[in-house]
Amino acid sequence: MESALDPHTARALLEWQIELGATDAIGDAPIDRYALPDKAPKAPKAKTVATAIPSKTPEPVDAAAIAQQVAKSAGSLPALQAAMDAFEHCDLKRGARQLVFADGTPGARVMIIGEAPGRDEDREGKPFVGRAGQLLDRMLAAIDLDRKQNVYITNVLPWRPPQNRDPKPEEIGMMKPFLERHVALAQPEVLVVMGNISCQAVLGKRGITRLRGRWDQALNLPVIPMFHPAYLLRQPQMKRQAWADLLELKSRLEARR
Ligand code: URA
Repeated sequence: MESALDPHTARALLEWQIELGATDAIGDAPIDRYALPDKAPKAPKAKTVATAIPSKTPEPVDAAAIAQQVAKSAGSLPALQAAMDAFEHCDLKRGARQLVFADGTPGARVMIIGEAPGRDEDREGKPFVGRAGQLLDRMLAAIDLDRKQNVYITNVLPWRPPQNRDPKPEEIGMMKPFLERHVALAQPEVLVVMGNISCQAVLGKRGITRLRGRWDQALNLPVIPMFHPAYLLRQPQMKRQAWADLLELKSRLEARR
């Protein structure tokens, strides 16, 4: 249908709707719902026939148990990625453009676990590629780390939550078997958990201001919590603490070289 809008306005309106969470176009032409009759015409009553198939409510599934089983049977990182891509039980998948699995160097000594993809990551299919990711890269470079050489990066959740809302505990619980398997297959020497969501998912604790910079233990590995780079963009005065935490990570890596 020919539109009265100029292309720039039309595009801006479309992007606005996507930001609001619209995922599908359901018609070519807009519907003026104020002009519709008050009551929709009644659908003719379905005749009951003796042969009607009885309606059956779907059986509830234990998505976390399925995730556990599927994750366990993935024998490599590509197999895990494929298994996660085929996993249909997390609603976040339907609102996201694609799975965001990982970036960097599999097998690196350092594995970073962020929270969930944002808009840029959802578009590119890689974690930490937006502004927070660029800051993360600069932080890593300051201690001679680089995702192209010696860091592996993933998130607690592989799909972007709508409007970047915080992941829900049930979403984290459902996807945790995949995260655990991811860590087991990537075989890092240390984990860096960035922000409260990752701390909660990996260590079962919140309170990043208290936890940051102190080594903990989870998934049979040493874990260091740090401020999330998105938080550091909002609170640049906290970069001083982040720098101390990076130096702590560096000295641990050097001590065990
Ligand atoms: N924030 C995260 O926690 N992860 C990303 O991939 C991007 C932003």
